[in-house]
Amino acid sequence: MIVTTQQLYKHAYLKYAVGAYNINNAEQAMGLFRGCVESKAPFIIQLSKGARNYTDKRVIEAIVRACEEIFPEAIFAVHLDHGDEATCYDCIDSGFYSSVMIDASHEPFAENVAITKRVVDRAHAKGISVEAELGMLGGVEEDIKVDEGHACLTNPDEAVEFVKQTGCDSLAAAIGTSHGAYKFKGQQSLRFDVIESITQKIPGLPIVMHGSSSVPVSEVTRINEAGGKLDPSARGVNEEEYLPAAKLGVTKVNIDTDGRLVWTRVHREFFRDKPTEFDFRPPGKVFIAEYAKFIAHKNTKLGSAGQLEDLRQSLKG
Ligand code: G3H
Ligand code: 13P
Ligand code: ZN
Repeated sequence: MIVTTQQLYKHAYLKYAVGAYNINNAEQAMGLFRGCVESKAPFIIQLSKGARNYTDKRVIEAIVRACEEIFPEAIFAVHLDHGDEATCYDCIDSGFYSSVMIDASHEPFAENVAITKRVVDRAHAKGISVEAELGMLGGVEEDIKVDEGHACLTNPDEAVEFVKQTGCDSLAAAIGTSHGAYKFKGQQSLRFDVIESITQKIPGLPIVMHGSSSVPVSEVTRINEAGGKLDPSARGVNEEEYLPAAKLGVTKVNIDTDGRLVWTRVHREFFRDKPTEFDFRPPGKVFIAEYAKFIAHKNTKLGSAGQLEDLRQSLKG
């Protein structure tokens, strides 16, 4: 059942975080639904501009619709990840998306406000909520590359102004993470002080954490043992920090890279061990099972596992 992103936030806020998973194809969709149903967790499906263009937006949207039928017990929202203005309007007008993200964080403050406000006005007229970004994460977002030197944390006082002026419904805040596999070297932690300060200044506003993959050492090691060449010093977000962050206001946790690592590990190992194989369906089936396991594990760490029935009841009431 597709619900609004706001309904998911209302249930989760300050209790647990909703996993927001990027998908691009049918195998990821099947694994995601299976993992969430098995772990009894609500979730958010994220489609990026790249995912909508990978085959065709109608293909990935049809896959989501099919999964909704195949898994009637699932409760989820459909979200546009890192949209530009034109893509936001396309999704708003389609009537399929529960929420959109307008990412104008690379623009100066006033321009970010102006763009975000235009999207908010058009989205709210159709009952769709908007995630906007303030501050800059390091790493690669869609077409925009931010090197670490230019990444900057969200300023909580600026956040107050930004939310007031734009009317956005949730805030993607830069709280120490970055996109991709190479976030940290060593033992960095999330900036809990920034999260706490935003929540204290804007109570009730769900904070979104981008760049939340944990980049497990075991996955990187297995990929490299099967022929990959990933930097073995790559580190991500400590999974044990998801729930403490959720209790301070981080309500949506975006995960993409970790799922790509699962895909790479499964396929590299499969074809290394079966070099005469060329049917892609056997490794595809292994991937779906492994991805489902991975999703269920993440949901446990986010605290969303086991929340499905309580959410279902609260949606009725
Ligand atoms: O933050 C970006 C997400 O990981 C989506 O990646 O734009 O390559 O689909 P993508
Ligand atoms: P990761 O690269 O850490 O998975 O972050 C994904 C993300 O923020 C999608 O918007
Ligand atoms: Zn992101």
